[in-house]
Amino acid sequence: MKNPVRVTVTGAAGQISYNLLFRLAAGEMLGKDQPVILQLLEIPPAMKMLDGVVMELEDCAFSTLSGIIATDNSELAFGDAEYVLMVGARPRGPGMERKDLLEANAKIFTEQGSVLDRVASQNVRVLVVGNPANTNALITASKLQRLDASQVTAMTRLDHNRAISQIAAKTGSFSSSVKRVIIWGNHSATQYPDIHHATVDGASALDVVDQNWIESEFIPTVQKRGAQVIAARGLSSAASAGSAAMDHIRTWMQGTPTGDWTSMGIVSDGSYEITDGLIYSYPVTCKSGHYEIVQDLEINKFSRDKMQITEQELIEERDAIANLL
Ligand code: NAD
Ligand code: LMR
Repeated sequence: MKNPVRVTVTGAAGQISYNLLFRLAAGEMLGKDQPVILQLLEIPPAMKMLDGVVMELEDCAFSTLSGIIATDNSELAFGDAEYVLMVGARPRGPGMERKDLLEANAKIFTEQGSVLDRVASQNVRVLVVGNPANTNALITASKLQRLDASQVTAMTRLDHNRAISQIAAKTGSFSSSVKRVIIWGNHSATQYPDIHHATVDGASALDVVDQNWIESEFIPTVQKRGAQVIAARGLSSAASAGSAAMDHIRTWMQGTPTGDWTSMGIVSDGSYEITDGLIYSYPVTCKSGHYEIVQDLEINKFSRDKMQITEQELIEERDAIANLL
């Protein structure tokens, strides 16, 4: 067994966390040889509920769980953390867009960004899950002085997984046969799930599905999947979101398989002519805890237009909270 690492999860009594924490504690995110100390943050009214989650975690007797801190004190929760999963935020309900949450949730990331900058490990890796995830990540990154903005990422892995799953179902393939899918832009209904560079069992995806399916079914299904889950469950996705959060961190640390990539919301460096500084989802390769944007992909007009629509929405979200940056 390695030395334990500290993993912070905010919103730890919420529904995503209830799906995430047990798998994380069982070693599914960082490995069966990597013990974790869970540092669980909640707001005071949810502390009783969090006590119940802690009891259940204890009752699992996971060998990879070496300690639990349950607190409403963010300094304690973020202290020396190597990984921070920022889940704690209000979810949307039916009829809302994720950006409608901006006003309610932005304050959380303003405060927590400053605290984690002060007390988290110098090497911390941060994943923002709470919506609107890209702009909340932008707020968090803007509070960093000691840490670097590249340490903060936003979750578009759920969209990436959704895209893979749709293509696999359409082509009768295993999801592991689908590679090089891209989610560009915002984790919102303007995101652009791009199939142009994807392969299915080594063949170009464009050769095995038709353009009409891409435009009238694939893209809208991935873009609106979150709303469809809310319409069906009355609650936003939780198990799939928790699973994607673990995928995001695991891939970041363990790397992308040769010949494949993943999608992550990261600070734009201007690649693909996207405005510098936005948190924009790009195709990235990961190796040993570092990520790099996949460069030099050919972008046709169809894709360029869609990449710009989602970029424009991120600019509008950024401008709406400019006073917080
Ligand atoms: P939930 O309401 O079940 O849980 C949220 C928890 O956060 C609650 O227990 C609440 O008490 C807590 N919380 C609120 N303010 C907090 C604060 N300041 N500090 C710490 N904890 C705080 O919601 P959920 O279903 O778990 O969803 C959480 C967030 O994740 C929502 O914003 C949702 O929209 C978002 N989400 C994002 C994705 C994605 O792909 N990026 C996917 C699914 C859900
Ligand atoms: C999702 O994509 O399922 C989440 O962002 C929740 C939502 O509001 O759609």
